[in-house]
Amino acid sequence: MLMKRVFSGIQPTGKIHLGNYLGAVKNWVDSQGEFENIFCIVNSHAITTTQNPQELREKTYELARVLIACGIDPKKSCLFIQSEIDEHAALAWILDCNISMGEMSRMTQFKDKSQKNPKNINVGLFNYPALMAADILLYNADLVPVGEDQKQHLELTRNVAQKFNRDFGECFKVPEALIPKVGARVMGLDDPTSKMSKSANGANHAIFLMDTPDEILKKFKKATTDSEACIRFDENRAGVYNLLCIYETLSKKTRESIEGEFVGRGYGDLKKAVAEIVIETLRPMQEKYQLLKNEQGYIEKILEEGRERAREIAQKTYNQAKTFIGLV
Ligand code: AMP
Ligand code: TRP
Repeated sequence: MLMKRVFSGIQPTGKIHLGNYLGAVKNWVDSQGEFENIFCIVNSHAITTTQNPQELREKTYELARVLIACGIDPKKSCLFIQSEIDEHAALAWILDCNISMGEMSRMTQFKDKSQKNPKNINVGLFNYPALMAADILLYNADLVPVGEDQKQHLELTRNVAQKFNRDFGECFKVPEALIPKVGARVMGLDDPTSKMSKSANGANHAIFLMDTPDEILKKFKKATTDSEACIRFDENRAGVYNLLCIYETLSKKTRESIEGEFVGRGYGDLKKAVAEIVIETLRPMQEKYQLLKNEQGYIEKILEEGRERAREIAQKTYNQAKTFIGLV
């Protein structure tokens, strides 16, 4: 039986955090045996916000190291850098001409990002979802594992694929989003009403995958909770709910047994338990990351092999799309 194909991407901006891990990367790693996987470091998406060129280059390779340290196995998964395959930008143009201004204008991530950074609202930022759709459609992906925040972009991807297929012939596979039941929206520890993000400023906002055990414990200890002092899964109590969801995802325990575990105990105990499970989860990844720091050649080889494999698939789909649409 043919395996379903998975495609997903992550930007090499900022430092990768627990939200990225629980919402996306953990699921990429866990399902490697089940699917055929293609993972992309989306550096062309990164330049929709201001980047220092040298830093961007370094972060691109650093992210590859982190992903491999997290368990992406190059024998099972193809890992490559987006800008190495010209067809991404080229297909995005074709898709641009098939997406209405109305639909693109509804994208909430553009509104959020432009509000946060009013000094650099560029056309690329507006157009970001078309490039993302191109990423996915080039590889005929069946499934796209992402966090909750990407749901709207996936809808747009499906819509443009369906429209193109209707107007010009069956060219693209229409993909489905794969959003985890828990962990799809990890919130900031300092402000549990906003999602954990790479760009937020607060020192206690995010747990980064390479934080030391001390840093992790300190951040969890300072996490915002409430004054109810009762440990239950209640979405209306955002801070405690966020901590419990992190614990649930990593411990794989049921909600009932977690609530049972904390009966009569305080937030201090909960914070310590969450910090410990996060520290233990990250420890092996951090060790592997340190080892990989001296293996630049190995990382480059993986990315090179990934590029060759990705190129083969991408060129085929792109040429097909060109033919369908009459570009010679
Ligand atoms: P990005 O860092 O924006 O490239 O995101 C990479 C992946 O992480 C995407 O699949 C996002 O949906 C996911 N992600 C980002 N932030 C969070 C969060 N706070 N909670 C869950 N998933 C997230
Ligand atoms: N937009 C995604 C994010 O910010 C990253 C991304 C780009 C992506 N291309 C993709 C995710 C293709 C899945 C598939 O998180």
